[in-house]
Amino acid sequence: MQKLVFLTGAGISAESGITTFRDSGGLWEQYRVEDVASIDGYYRDPQLVTNFYNERRRQLQDAQPNEAHKLVAQLEAKYDVCVVTQNVDDLHERAGSTNIIHLHGELRKITSSRNPNDPSQIETLPPGKSITYPDDRARDGSPARPFIVWFGEPVPMIEAAARQVAEADIMVVVGTSLNVYPAAGLVNYARTDAHIYLIDPSPTNVPQYLNIHVIAKKASEGMRQLCNEL
Ligand code: OAD
Repeated sequence: MQKLVFLTGAGISAESGITTFRDSGGLWEQYRVEDVASIDGYYRDPQLVTNFYNERRRQLQDAQPNEAHKLVAQLEAKYDVCVVTQNVDDLHERAGSTNIIHLHGELRKITSSRNPNDPSQIETLPPGKSITYPDDRARDGSPARPFIVWFGEPVPMIEAAARQVAEADIMVVVGTSLNVYPAAGLVNYARTDAHIYLIDPSPTNVPQYLNIHVIAKKASEGMRQLCNEL
């Protein structure tokens, strides 16, 4: 079986009603990254950060996987698929993908603010619970924080993701502005004989030194085209 690795970003969830970050009307027009997505911001104003992620969970509760997530999952019938995602939503899981690497954490999980990457500290919120409070405690007694990789923090899953990309026969990048490293650098791990596709209605930062087949369409339509071309 050929190996197919996806790298997805906020754009794949846009048609599910999830707000992207850098598009016009995106989250980073409404909030300052350093306020809601950095460890300093969290210590400065835990209530603001807690509210921000509560709102993201509320938005996710009303969202359903779209056709693009479903087509990614269906490709498991023909390919050895790994989904590397920058998204913190669980729409790939809910669409049926079984091999997913979350580079930037997961919205439905909380963890210790003392040891955020200790697996024994990471807890999934029970179904139906989407609100957390700044005085919630993690298992080790420290304040519970969202299980999100914030700016300036290490990205523990990047090596596992790079290994997957290095094994790919086909790599497909969907709905990411390729602004945020190290995720944006993953394309550089692809073998020189790998086929690389990029699906995005407004492709930006497409590395010109790589031979990338750009499908300038929204995720669902672009995924339909990809499935026809594969
Ligand atoms: P961005 O908001 O930076 O980029 C979204 C991309 O999706 C853009 O290239 C859009 O053109 C594209 N897009 C918009 N609508 C689309 C659609 N319907 N179908 C397909 N593509 C569409 O989001 P990311 O690249 O995912 O990190 O951002 C990377 C990281 O920056 C995020 O994981 C987040 C953010 O800060 C953290 O919060 C740690």
